[in-house]
Amino acid sequence: MLNRDVFQTPPEQYRLANQGVAKISVPPALDGMETLRSELSTFVCDGAYAQGLAKILNAYLAAVGRGGSAPAVWISGFFGSGKSHLASMLAALWTNLTFEDGATAEGLIQHIPDEVKSLLKELRIAAQRMGGVLAAGDTLGHGPSDPAEATLNIILRAVGLPTDLRAAKVAFWLADLGILDDVRGALGATFDRDIRAFMLSPRFSDAVLKAKPELAADARTLSQLLKAQFPEPPPVTVDTLETMVRDALMLGRKEIPLTLIVLDEVQQFIRQDPALTLKIQTITERLSGRFDGRVLLVGTGQQALSDVKDLQKLLDRFPVQIALGEADVDSVIRKTVLRKKPETESSISTMLKTNAGEISRHLRGSKLAHTVHDDPEAVLDWPLLPSRRRVWERILRELDRTGLGGTLRGQLRTTLDAAKTYAPKPLGTAVPVDFLYSRFADEAFNAGLLPAETRNRIESLRGGEGD
Ligand SMILES: Nc1ncnc2c1ncn2[C@@H]1O[C@H](COP(=O)(O)OP(=O)(O)OP(=O)(O)O)[C@@H](O)[C@H]1O
Ligand SMILES: [Mg+2]
Repeated sequence: MLNRDVFQTPPEQYRLANQGVAKISVPPALDGMETLRSELSTFVCDGAYAQGLAKILNAYLAAVGRGGSAPAVWISGFFGSGKSHLASMLAALWTNLTFEDGATAEGLIQHIPDEVKSLLKELRIAAQRMGGVLAAGDTLGHGPSDPAEATLNIILRAVGLPTDLRAAKVAFWLADLGILDDVRGALGATFDRDIRAFMLSPRFSDAVLKAKPELAADARTLSQLLKAQFPEPPPVTVDTLETMVRDALMLGRKEIPLTLIVLDEVQQFIRQDPALTLKIQTITERLSGRFDGRVLLVGTGQQALSDVKDLQKLLDRFPVQIALGEADVDSVIRKTVLRKKPETESSISTMLKTNAGEISRHLRGSKLAHTVHDDPEAVLDWPLLPSRRRVWERILRELDRTGLGGTLRGQLRTTLDAAKTYAPKPLGTAVPVDFLYSRFADEAFNAGLLPAETRNRIESLRGGEGD
């Protein structure tokens, strides 16, 4: 029997939906739909992830419609702990995203605990009563460098408006005149491009005049009118953000919908910059506080906010905190890439028992050594050994401190690659601990963290004879 034979899906055939990194894009772009579909269908919705969803929904539903502020959410955890995946699932569930073939977010997730199901039901009922639902989200740092502008972009995109500020203002004006939909319909797929070039695009002027001829005598006059009325706007302040978000959310609606805004990687975005931290703080305060408790902001970051001095102040603005830990990632890994065929578990367990003596000698005397508590998990972890997995976790944490963690983003990915490499070996060949070394050696060397002498010695030993 080979290692490969014990897996539910042989590692060589296992496809990670997202290459090991979940990206937030809400509403999803057309080319992101397939990835999102696989993320939904492989979502492990239990443990910390299910509890996180329940906590977020509970807190929101308790506050919504009461006139106070919505409790903003901070999701923290190590690289690859599933922060983005969780936030992305929340967004898909928020609107119960529907795919072309009729499949829905709720339907695609294999198992949703009853508590989460009933909270989602409550959300749908509240939405019917209030103003519908809307979800928006992206990675901060992908767009504008100013957080207010970046947040505004995300929301404008979610309501189908151009993200260019000036063009968005023109769109609001068209909406006030009651002709936004006509113009959008007339321009079709080029709407976004035409409205961005509103002063120059004859197609745009024609469409506007066709919808409302009394606006101007001809296209030229209309462009001049627009040029005067919509000058180049000043940089986005938090006040502008608030006004425009209100306009955007009210577009075509009678009241503010139940709105979810996900800002991924907030912490990387603000780094240690006090000015940016303060701005994010103000944005959070405004969005949570000024919209009748209907706008829920979800931010993510590597660390729990309380760990970072500069971020302490932000803490108050994010009353709901979800911390994802190593155990949570481990359980995802066991249920996805390392999932075993149930009928092979006894073979793995027998093999581990046969080798128990050797396994227990690894790292003996250290806190990382194999203990009896590891026995049930050892089957799930195979071809990794629990003690070696713990060594990896230590190394990853250390690398993270040196700034190298990014290379190894995602234990899911690393684990799958390890499983792939050792799949053709006989059952009983475990992944060696130094598998990790080859993954970061080059980068560590380039970053000056690995002395050339050490590296050369390792390379020559590796290339040498087995003994
Ligand atoms: N609950 C889960 N169910 C299934 N897969 C998951 C789950 N959580 C995370 N994953 C997968 O693990 C990998 C890492 O997750 P993700 O990208 O969300 O981590 P992250 O915490 O956002 O990391 P980073 O700090 O690097 O942004 C992704 O491939 C993701 O799809
Ligand atoms: Mg992420």
